Amino acid sequence: MKAWSGRFEKTTDALTDALNASISFDSRMYAEDITGSIAHAGMLGAQGIIEQDEANKIIACLKEILDDINAGKVEFTEENEDIHMNIEAILTERIGDTGKRLHTARSRNDQVALDIRLYLKKEIKAIRESAIALLETIVKKAEGGKDVIMPAYTHLQRAQPTTFAHYMMAYANMLRRDITRLEDCLERMDEMPLGSGALTSTTYPIDRRRVAAELGFSRITENSIDGVSDRDFALELMSDLSIMMMHLSRFSEEIVLWCSWEFKFVELDDAFATGSSIMPQKKNPDIAELVRGKTGRVYGSLITLLTVMKALPLAYNKDMQEDKEPVFDAVDTVRACLPVFTAMLDTMTLLPDNMRAAAGRGFINATDCADYLVKKGMPFRDAYKIVGRLVNYCIKNNKTLETLTMEEYNAMSDTFDSDVYEYINLENCVNSRIAEGGPSLKSVEAQIASIRAFLNDRM
Ligand code: ARG
Repeated sequence: MKAWSGRFEKTTDALTDALNASISFDSRMYAEDITGSIAHAGMLGAQGIIEQDEANKIIACLKEILDDINAGKVEFTEENEDIHMNIEAILTERIGDTGKRLHTARSRNDQVALDIRLYLKKEIKAIRESAIALLETIVKKAEGGKDVIMPAYTHLQRAQPTTFAHYMMAYANMLRRDITRLEDCLERMDEMPLGSGALTSTTYPIDRRRVAAELGFSRITENSIDGVSDRDFALELMSDLSIMMMHLSRFSEEIVLWCSWEFKFVELDDAFATGSSIMPQKKNPDIAELVRGKTGRVYGSLITLLTVMKALPLAYNKDMQEDKEPVFDAVDTVRACLPVFTAMLDTMTLLPDNMRAAAGRGFINATDCADYLVKKGMPFRDAYKIVGRLVNYCIKNNKTLETLTMEEYNAMSDTFDSDVYEYINLENCVNSRIAEGGPSLKSVEAQIASIRAFLNDRM
């Protein structure tokens, strides 16, 4: 029999039960549901809303139920719809009428709002830990590639020379922002909704702050309608996860490219690559491809919940039960991706000779060559044109800026001197970019130190 059956003359149709029940996916919040109920029961007892010994009995039994669920000894039923009513039913089955007092001054609406927040707070912390581990690995990779020259691209065309360390620190900065976004999200989520009741709180003399403190929340939600109506905290998390996955998808895409014979900048460890069932020569970067692919899945979850929430009138509507599957899937996906991505990156071998060779073709020192003329007094636009003509000449004659003779240089402009060769040397091009944020050794070491300080603050 349904807990709410009194008002009804007929039982629900089996089709109604099947669509209505959420136990198949919300059972994963059982520990949070029980923890919330223990705090609620303790408060009811302390406030004299129920007898203290009844509260104690409820709490002791809830703890037993938790142990039994952990030990795999409990089966939930669709008859009891969701995790909240399943736990309450088991409690009442075990301790009789006393169990029926637990739901005093509470609704499933504020209960579920509490459970999701408790669950997601825990998940955010775990994701943040994994993201920190990835950031550490990125910095470690950067440190190993301080003098590895590689081409950097715009439009996927070789643009200017940089180092692998500088390149890695770009991703480090993205991930640092991703981590702080998670921290901000956690801070905003850190408010306790229980006591909102169904929507307009309750007439019982509850103590919401006691419950909040016991459950580790720093504040309570300030409006009861808001407390049960919004899922912006879940949306914010999914936005943050989407952005993080977007970054990982770009990183993944680059790793896929770098593994190709066309680039061959890196070699993945065999443990993080896969073969083909037909082509014996293949070593495929599936992990990077899957992280790239799963990014779409995380975006999908965000869009699902945004669409569910769009235009819902206040306060609770059953549509909101549709929050869980997407948010769980997003969290599961990111938790699955981060550690394997980290391990793949950690074990990835750099092929510096190939990077250096790629940097040597494509005229990526053309900007430096123009800057050389500017430093000798020529306006940049004139210098740009002269170097453009030089590049055109090189392409036609199968030469590089490094292999042009002095006569060839001077045929374009007599401002060129023999010191041009030193000026356009790739190592020199990189190390003369001493601006903050640039690829010179000193600039990159400052970037590494900044991220290291960020990591140290989080040890
Ligand atoms: N299973 C429900 C959910 O996840 C719990 C809240 C039900 N509230 C209600 N008024 N029917 O949203």
